[in-house]
Amino acid sequence: MEKRIKNKATSSFSHLAKKLVSWYAKGHRDLPWRHTKDPYAIWISEIMLQQTTSQAVIPFYERFLKRFPHLKKLSQASQEDVYELWAGLGYYSRARNILKAAKELVKTSFPQSWEELIQYPGFGPYTARAVTSFAFNEPVGVVDGNVVRVLSRLFDVSCDWWTTKGRNVLQNFADQLVQSTQDSHANQALMELGATICTPKTPTCALCPWSADCLALQNKTITQRPRPKPRPTPTLLLWKPEVVIAKNKIAMVENNYAPFLRKDKIFPGKITELQKPPKQFDFKHTITRFHIYTQLAPIKKSTKSVETWVDLTEFSKVFPYSLYKKTIEHHQEKSARTSQVSH
Ligand code: ADE
Repeated sequence: MEKRIKNKATSSFSHLAKKLVSWYAKGHRDLPWRHTKDPYAIWISEIMLQQTTSQAVIPFYERFLKRFPHLKKLSQASQEDVYELWAGLGYYSRARNILKAAKELVKTSFPQSWEELIQYPGFGPYTARAVTSFAFNEPVGVVDGNVVRVLSRLFDVSCDWWTTKGRNVLQNFADQLVQSTQDSHANQALMELGATICTPKTPTCALCPWSADCLALQNKTITQRPRPKPRPTPTLLLWKPEVVIAKNKIAMVENNYAPFLRKDKIFPGKITELQKPPKQFDFKHTITRFHIYTQLAPIKKSTKSVETWVDLTEFSKVFPYSLYKKTIEHHQEKSARTSQVSH
């Protein structure tokens, strides 16, 4: 089996690439970041595309580029301005890294190799390659989730694609594919195939340019490729935030106690790990593997632990997290109930 994959794969990369790029040339989605070679714009689009679908990204991308049309403009922005344009996309550490990287990138000309670019904050193996391949035609494969699926099926590989070793297997296939053609659209075509034909649940193999080459289709293993990534076991947490509001300002501290939203500010409070869900809580919110059962601490008007007071009117701009939004909403409901009782 192993031998068959190797023979087939090495003998026909240029043949496969030819079929792929001519399929792409016949028609594909018209996406705004496909009309530019500007590494800055491509970078922004790629970071946004890691969070949601292409259709959902378009308005965010257009707004962002209107406000920050080039690197210099972004490098002069405040964190709050960037957060404001990011609100709704989630994963705010990405918005932080974008600004950090912009401040460094503006000092130099934009790196044209992924190996240089990966040194900057927020650039991983995927983003660095995506930017240099799309903007500068660097001949490297760009392996995102769609590409993992397409290549795992094409070569019927069952590697642990979430590990470096497993990912390298697919990276190698992608590199060979891209390097076997002169057409600069090979990476875009690979992604397009994953997004439109080789979809997770019901791929339309009848329309696939690789249907005659696909080993998983021949071996009837399409539904088993790629292998499902093992889910991390959830961690149950009881979070008791103290929402202290005085003179229209909210008390916040550096997060040195919660395992989520690290390196950010948080309400003063306490956290405990649980073995099973608690009987009583105000609301539950999930961030990655953390299931956060929130129980608001009793209302107080002052706190010793305050480090920063954030204006209530600015709060959602500075901290655009749903967890914080829900916390404040529950606090306000609770305050309203308490004041009704005491009047
Ligand atoms: N997903 C991630 N990057 C993409 C791109 N450049 N085009 C389409 N879908 C994508």
